[in-house]
Amino acid sequence: MSSTAFTVIGHRGARGHAPENTLLGIDTGIALGAPWVEFDVQLHPSGALLVFHDLTLDRTTNGSGFLADQPLAALRALDAGAGQIIPTLQEVLDLVDQRVGVNIELKSAGGTAEAVAAVIRSYVGAGWPVDKFLVSSFHLPELWEFKQLVPEIPIGALLCGVPLDWAGCALELGAATLNLSSEFVDPRLIADAHAHGIKVYVYTVNDVAEMRLLRGMGVDGVFTDHPDRALALC
Ligand code: G3P
Ligand code: MG
Repeated sequence: MSSTAFTVIGHRGARGHAPENTLLGIDTGIALGAPWVEFDVQLHPSGALLVFHDLTLDRTTNGSGFLADQPLAALRALDAGAGQIIPTLQEVLDLVDQRVGVNIELKSAGGTAEAVAAVIRSYVGAGWPVDKFLVSSFHLPELWEFKQLVPEIPIGALLCGVPLDWAGCALELGAATLNLSSEFVDPRLIADAHAHGIKVYVYTVNDVAEMRLLRGMGVDGVFTDHPDRALALC
């Protein structure tokens, strides 16, 4: 047991246990004890916010081709694994019902920030605490737009590399967290984030020895397909 907080975030729900980005996957992450679940959100041309990772349907559903090319009704008729449908953001939030924190990753741009901001505003209006949300993106301009729309919602800057100005982008965005790829964890990046009061989370970590190592480096939490493994370290 350790006294330092280590945040366990179920990746795409709990991808090692149930189909990713589905209601079953999210519920499985919660059942395994993850205090946070992460999932990916895309704005469909219909205006729906769909919880889905890839641009194409082939890997995770019985459909094929680009998600954006299919009508919403056809997408909603697909099997996303174990008979699950592709859920909407609202369906996931209703399922979670404040039981855990939700990390909403903005996968698309061009209106996604605005649409997600509107949904979050309505859930906050209905009683959700702002600190139950963490909105993140690799698309930092989209994340910037989100932060301007709802500054009270914490955001996380996603990186897959080591920037020249270390944690500078997270600082400029007013981000609460810097979410780093496990391939690009650098002690200087962690130190710079911490020096500015920004937490560091690392994705996607499934190996227990790697979790231990990262924790020893001062990392504040991990995204994992196996929340049970990370929780055993807490
Ligand atoms: O947010 C952490 C992680 O989900 C980012 O990568 O590709 O799994 O969405 P990806
Ligand atoms: Mg993601």
